[in-house]
Amino acid sequence: MNNDQLAVAAREAAEGSYSPYSHFRVGAVVVSADGEIFTGANIENASYPVSSCAESTAINTAVSRGVRKIVCIAVACIDADNVEGAYPCGRCRQEMAEFGVEKVIVTAGDGSVVREHTLEELLPHQFNL
Ligand code: THU
Repeated sequence: MNNDQLAVAAREAAEGSYSPYSHFRVGAVVVSADGEIFTGANIENASYPVSSCAESTAINTAVSRGVRKIVCIAVACIDADNVEGAYPCGRCRQEMAEFGVEKVIVTAGDGSVVREHTLEELLPHQFNL
């Protein structure tokens, strides 16, 4: 899948969002080192901190299927008119670091690809054990 196709898949994944509190539907697609695709959406909870971000849902789905190396992740939000793009939160960036994400594809509210970043750009000086 190229970046545009991943952006479309991330938007489709956002349709599965459970976000009755923020009404901010986010979707993510991860590509494993073997080329497998896994998707996820944000899942909120009445106890707000219990919520899961879309990136986290997608990463956890991939990892629970045995994936240990993720090459790429694309993120989309289908509710905001965000021309700057739907950037992953700090917690999700740390989760990406755990599984070796190299490339992060950020998309805008209209579905276009805003930018491709390295994870190193989004999370410099990563914490690791
Ligand atoms: N959200 C994500 O799914 N990914 C991010 O990187 C940032 C925020 C979700 C969490 C919450 O359900 C909603 O967006 C509003 O913060």
